[in-house]
Amino acid sequence: MSTRPYYIAGNWKMHKTRAEAAELAKDLVARLKGGKHKYLVAPGFTSLETVGALLSGTNILLGAQNMAAEEQGAHTGEVSVLQLKDLGVRAVILGHSERRHIYKEDDALINKKVKLALTHGLEVILCVGETLDERDAGQAEVVCETQTVWGLAGVSAGEIGSITIAYEPVWAIGTGKTATPEDADAIHASIRTVIGRLYGGGAANKIIIQYGGSVKPDNVSLLMAKENIDGALVGGAALKADTFAPIAAFAAGQPPAVS
Ligand code: PGA
Repeated sequence: MSTRPYYIAGNWKMHKTRAEAAELAKDLVARLKGGKHKYLVAPGFTSLETVGALLSGTNILLGAQNMAAEEQGAHTGEVSVLQLKDLGVRAVILGHSERRHIYKEDDALINKKVKLALTHGLEVILCVGETLDERDAGQAEVVCETQTVWGLAGVSAGEIGSITIAYEPVWAIGTGKTATPEDADAIHASIRTVIGRLYGGGAANKIIIQYGGSVKPDNVSLLMAKENIDGALVGGAALKADTFAPIAAFAAGQPPAVS
């Protein structure tokens, strides 16, 4: 079991109109009130303002799912860090596997975004994870190490406290397949070792490493019971309060919630 504070984040991806997002946000505000962990939800860009107004003054942070690598300029269709901050966004998810694989974002671009977000005082959830082919080839650890090292290139010791890493095996995202708690913990431990090599033991011990990939009410407790797993980045199950609230309320080491 982790001795670090747990951090549970919901990634709403490209779902929900403003009215739907508001309904979910209101429900979560009520149900997560007084919750023991750190919470964040990341609605689509079009709902950030609506959801931000509802989250203001609550224990749920407002997050964005992506941002441009440039501060401003001629970048049709992109959303800037300044625009996100203007809406009250506190954290941004960067390097999600859907950005890496569908939209071909590479480590250099992701690193540029990470540094820009930190410069502007945003927290970052940096996602890393291997594909099934890479796992089958025994490359899972090295892929996650490479993505972590590249993603954090140029990030100072003073800034590392604003970084959360999310280990999301690509083959487990939205597929219903979850890494076993043991397999996930092994990758989390190796990522922690990388942080130790780059920033020292204190930073390695402190950094929050979330697991993502088909986290559900009935598997969250077993995952969170592992020493190196400090939270979850939740996709599908974050779209309903009935599934996200029990995940957010998990107690490590307790029997799984009935779903
Ligand atoms: P999932 O998505 O929970 O639907 O697998 C996780 C994610 O992509 O962050």
